[in-house]
Formats: sequence, C-alpha cells, structure tokens
Amino acid sequence: MIARMATNPLPQFPPGFLWGVSTSAHQIEGAVQERDPSVWDAFTAEPGRVKDGSTAAVACDHYHRYPEDVALLADLGVDAYRFSVSWPRVNSPGGLDFYDRLVDALCAAGVRPIPTLFHWDLPLELDWLNRDTAERFAEYAAVVAGRLGDRVRKWITLNEPAEHTLLGHALGAHAPGRRLLFDALPVAHHQLLAHGLAVRALRAAGADDIGIANSHGPTWAASRRPEDVEAADFYDLLLNRLFADPLLLGRYPDGVGELMPGHPEGVEADLKVIAEPLDWYGINYYQPTRVGAPQGTEIEFGGLTLPAELPFSVRELEGYPVTDFGWAVVPEALTELLVGFRERYGDRLPPVVITENGCSYEGIDDQERIAFLDGHVRALHRASEQGVDVRGYFVWSLLDNFEWAEGYARRFGLVHVDYDTLERTPKASFVWLRDALRARG
Ligand code: FCB
Repeated sequence: MIARMATNPLPQFPPGFLWGVSTSAHQIEGAVQERDPSVWDAFTAEPGRVKDGSTAAVACDHYHRYPEDVALLADLGVDAYRFSVSWPRVNSPGGLDFYDRLVDALCAAGVRPIPTLFHWDLPLELDWLNRDTAERFAEYAAVVAGRLGDRVRKWITLNEPAEHTLLGHALGAHAPGRRLLFDALPVAHHQLLAHGLAVRALRAAGADDIGIANSHGPTWAASRRPEDVEAADFYDLLLNRLFADPLLLGRYPDGVGELMPGHPEGVEADLKVIAEPLDWYGINYYQPTRVGAPQGTEIEFGGLTLPAELPFSVRELEGYPVTDFGWAVVPEALTELLVGFRERYGDRLPPVVITENGCSYEGIDDQERIAFLDGHVRALHRASEQGVDVRGYFVWSLLDNFEWAEGYARRFGLVHVDYDTLERTPKASFVWLRDALRARG
C-alpha cells in the first residue's frame, strides 16, 4: 500500500478542498433510551421491517464512545466530519449537550464539524405529510444553531429528501413505512419547504455556509426505444430534477407543481422559500440506474421490491463489478453526473461537495474499497478538470453501522465495528486514506 501511494497519490484539487467522512445519528449513536423516540425506532420494532431483525438501540454506541471515534478521525487526518444531529435527542432533556461535547472534541482535534440537521430520524410525533413539520424543523434548526453556531461554520439542512420520500413514504421500505406511491409527493414538498425555512433560520442565527445533501445519479435508458427513453426520463425526474430544480431554479419540473399541496399560489410562494440561495450543493453519489419501460411485474432491486404499477422498471446494469450490496461500481458516472448538472443548471449551480460516496464490502483487508474510493476520487477530479467547481469529498462512512432496513449486514465503514464487543478496527482502506492524506502534505 505504501509503495502504491508513492506512485499514486490523491489527485490535486483546488486549495480549500475538504476531505472528510460522513455518518448519521441513527446509524451510529445507539443510546435510544436516552432520547425521545423517532419514526425509525417505531419502524424497527415492527417484525420483518429490518432484514436481520436488528435495531439501532446500541448500534456503534457512538453516543458513549465518541471520544474514541474523534481520535480515529484525528488519526485519519480528515479536514472535516459530517455527522447528523438527532432531532428527537435535541427534544430530550440534555440532548443538545451531547452535540456540544462532540463539537468541542472535534474542534480540539482540528476536525471541522459539519452537522446535518435531518438524516431521516424524525421525532415520532411528527409527520412529513403535515406542512406544520416544515415550520417545526425551522424552529429546531434555530435551536441547534443557537447552541453550536459559535463553533460550526458549515451546515447541512436535510439528507436525501428523495430517498426519505421514495423509500419511507412511497415504497414502505424505510420508516415510517408508508406505501403511498405518488401520493407521497407532499412529503417531498414539505421537506423542501423545511429546507428553505431552515436556511432562513440558520442565516438569521448568523450562518453563512449552508448546503443540502441530495442523492443523485445518472439514469441510463435500457435502450433507445422511445418507451424506454420515456421511462428513464421519468425516473430521472423523480430522483434528480424533482429535488434539484426547485432548489436551484425555483420551479418544479413540468407537470409536478400541479400535484403539490397548495397549488397554484401556495406552491409558487413556497418555491421562493425553497430556492433560498445556497452556499454549496451536496451530492450523495452511489451508482447510476438503468431504467426501461414497465414490465408489468414486481422487480427486486437493491434490496427493494418495486411494485408492478410504477411507470418504469429498473434493470440490471450489466458489465460492471458490484459491491457486496449488489450496487454497481461505476466511477465514470460520477463525472457524467457532475458535468450534466453543470450543463443543466449553469451558474445556478453553487460549488459542489460530494457529501457521501462509498461501498459495502466485508473484511478488514478491503482492497475493493480502496479501488472504489480511488476510482471515484479520480472521477471527481475529471469533473473538476471539466469545469465543475468541486469543493469536497466525504466517504460514507467512518464506521460500519446500522444500514437502515438492511440492519448490520452491510458494512460501509473505513473502520470495522465488532458488534459484540464494539471494538473498532481500522481497515486497509482507513490506512490507505490516512497515508494518502498525509502524502498530500
Ligand atoms: C445513503 C444514506 C446513508 C447510507 C448510505 C449507504 O442513501 O444517506 O445514510 O445509508 O446511503
């Protein structure tokens, strides 16, 4: 590995580029008895929801072991750490104290704290079908900023509102487990509104470095037949444009605004809030999706069961290696995605940060993960060479953790976690990244 580093250092990005790692509260903290319940606690308690029957009750016990995890971050030598603040914990007595301690520890270790205010663990009493949840989110954002804003510069409002809408409310694979299909669209609108209101609340609290972490990926039509192209375009709308257009252009894609609550005047007014200017735009990238016309049958895809009535079908991406999760490894699609964003949004696209990218592989000598990260960092660099203003790259994830409906079966960490002893063991990929960051000087 050392020899490899000598000949193959990380590509050079412009000054100020941030190297980091990401986690989320529900996936690592544990200590669920020490906070209010979230929709994820209720969901995992329902039999059959999480594949291995596990819960996040202990997870990595990061809540109690955060000093050890901050020491790992310091050893890794990352510039920044993206974590999420648990809204139900903040609602609990003393809950904010934990994030206060965490932020202090990060600052003392020279690692910049970047909190995400919502990474899917909604307080159990709230519901994104209600518009009021957006207002409540802005109040909560103000509380967190009031406490941490003296040490936190960079903020993320929401993580992947697309996945939370699709998996949590349209397909029922994530909390809160609803299968509303297209009736889930208000959930998208209310999260976007929550984002815009939170941007205003954060700015009022003095924040001037605000972004969002959206999941995006290229959609590839299964063939050039018009029905496949049309289906792929529709899928692209759902994953990419439905969330990026309102934020960056202040409008919904054609035909979507009519389906949103409050149409027409209410939606127009909300779009002005949603499109509050951002300081940067976070993208979580994992893989492209190959999509064709509906096939009239249920489809198993990435651990999901997609119902037959959807107006598209997801097809296998042939000819690429896959991770242990079955996700295709296609670094060049990251370049394509970013260059495509630049073409579509032009000057409306703020600087981009890759807020998540990573892969699930077993084992501590994880050479596949090293190859994955190396390939994606190079793909990001090619986008930068082609004029996309990229400002950071965050690996998902620091630790193996509770991978939502997959439970503990998927290991995304640079650090292995033994779930019996909670012992942390840096993997080969951790050593690779640490040495590469050191070699950067
Ligand atoms: C993303 C989520 C993150 C993690 C990775 C693998 O969609 O934001 O929490 O589960 O996928």
